[in-house]
Amino acid sequence: MNILVTGSRGQLGSELQELSRKLPDHRFFFYDLPELDITDSGAVGLAVSECKPSVLINAAAYTAVDRAERDPESAFRVNRNGAGVLAAACRDVGALLLHVSTDYVFDGNLPRPYRESDPPSPSSVYGCSKLQGEQLIGEIDPSHIIVRTSWLYSRHGANFVKTMLRLGAEKSELQVVFDQTGTPTSAADLAGALMEISGHFDPSRHYRETYHYSNEGTASWYDFACAVMELSGLGCSVLPVDSSGYPQEAPRPSYSVLDKGAIKRDWGIRIPYWRHSLGAMLSHQP
Ligand SMILES: NC(=O)c1ccc[n+]([C@@H]2O[C@H](COP(=O)([O-])OP(=O)(O)OC[C@H]3O[C@@H](n4cnc5c(N)ncnc54)[C@H](OP(=O)(O)O)[C@@H]3O)[C@@H](O)[C@H]2O)c1
Repeated sequence: MNILVTGSRGQLGSELQELSRKLPDHRFFFYDLPELDITDSGAVGLAVSECKPSVLINAAAYTAVDRAERDPESAFRVNRNGAGVLAAACRDVGALLLHVSTDYVFDGNLPRPYRESDPPSPSSVYGCSKLQGEQLIGEIDPSHIIVRTSWLYSRHGANFVKTMLRLGAEKSELQVVFDQTGTPTSAADLAGALMEISGHFDPSRHYRETYHYSNEGTASWYDFACAVMELSGLGCSVLPVDSSGYPQEAPRPSYSVLDKGAIKRDWGIRIPYWRHSLGAMLSHQP
């Protein structure tokens, strides 16, 4: 099967590239900027007609959550319009669009993990742009599966774990917010789940699904930072602060744990606990 991946040099895209080396039965085509801009319908159409993918995994996105508040045009151009361009290209060639979205489509006011059927209500430009991308895919309606995830980290690219490792090596004490709860997610695990779906979907079916995928368990950013220090053996103390003492440009949901029941039930995907996956990532960190 041919699988085309966009955004292939980001965190998730890099993990998909690593995993692809263990999957010789599939033929992969990896693209990122500058060679393939997902907002360029001509270039996307050309790539799709050349690669003839059965599945297009979209790992490309505008992910600078705070910068998006100052630059909404770029966020909407990539996260809404780009998703639409890919959806139209997939519809034209009958490919499955496997698109990745975010827990930030929710406002965080529910007292329990978010299900796919819960109404989204994003509170940031980034969250709005990702939600509009989902909606545009639904309107264009290629066969599509949207997977919302949260708090991604990887050995590749910039992320919270790498920031904590750097600051933990430089400082003896750090303040981290304790009043935002979610689930850290290994991009390597998410890549594995996307490959499971790619390997087992039924090409004769028209999919219109949304799923939630994160690692298991819940954590605050404070818990996450403490785990990074503990599992990497850094002696830096982490102090809990509430988010009023750490203003950010984009509002974040105070609670964005995702309910993963549906993806586990429908695809038989087994999801590791977040601390376990964090330990695995740190043990491979140079
Ligand atoms: N990171 C998180 O914590 C998080 C949480 C929840 C959901 N997600 C979602 O998970 C997915 C993967 O995130 P990630 O963390 O792997 O993202 P990432 O590391 O920021 O990677 C995104 C990639 O897309 C590329 N890109 C940006 N604009 C593009 C365009 N117009 N055309 C083609 N490629 C473009 C980026 O290139 P440049 O670097 O050159 O811009 C980058 O290589 C995204 O859909 C994101 O919204 C992420």
